[in-house]
Amino acid sequence: MTDPSAERAASPLTLRSSENGQAAIGNFWAEVGGRQTFERLVRAFYAGVASDPPLLALYPETDLEPAIQRLTGFLEQYWGGPTTYSEQRGHPRLRMRHAPFAVTPDMRNRWLTHMRAAVDSLELAPLQEAMLWGYLERAAHAMVNRSA
Ligand code: HEM
Repeated sequence: MTDPSAERAASPLTLRSSENGQAAIGNFWAEVGGRQTFERLVRAFYAGVASDPPLLALYPETDLEPAIQRLTGFLEQYWGGPTTYSEQRGHPRLRMRHAPFAVTPDMRNRWLTHMRAAVDSLELAPLQEAMLWGYLERAAHAMVNRSA
């Protein structure tokens, strides 16, 4: 498939009080409940990953907690929350960071299945849910880096 740039997907426009400051206006991150909501999302997602042996096998660390923190931080930053992720990890460059892992269409589908269940568990308002899901689905398609 064509590759809608994951870098573009990872670079939202958020008006901030300074280069790395808090978002200056109401934003999605705050509207859906901030850190707590994103942590719920990612913990529910990783519970799904942990129950899916072929997908779990891609994750290099047996302890998933660091991965939970990275994905939570990334998503918080993307949606206008704190920029802790980039302060600790630098530019997201997600496609590059996924290059070592064989993200096949099957793995993408597994990832999306668990993420869909995690999004559902949040019980967001329909518009917020559609925004969040639309992004995650596009980003997941952009992350595929092996045909099989
Ligand atoms: C399409 C299926 C995907 C698979 C199979 C997959 C798999 C992985 C694996 C195995 C890791 C390494 C664990 C870690 O170091 O944290 C990882 C890291 C990560 N993934 Fe994914 N991923 C997928 C999609 C996505 C998407 C769509 C996003 C963002 C919306 C994402 C965001 C991240 C982030 C932020 C990290 C940590 C990067 C770092 O700072 O090192 N992944 N992913």
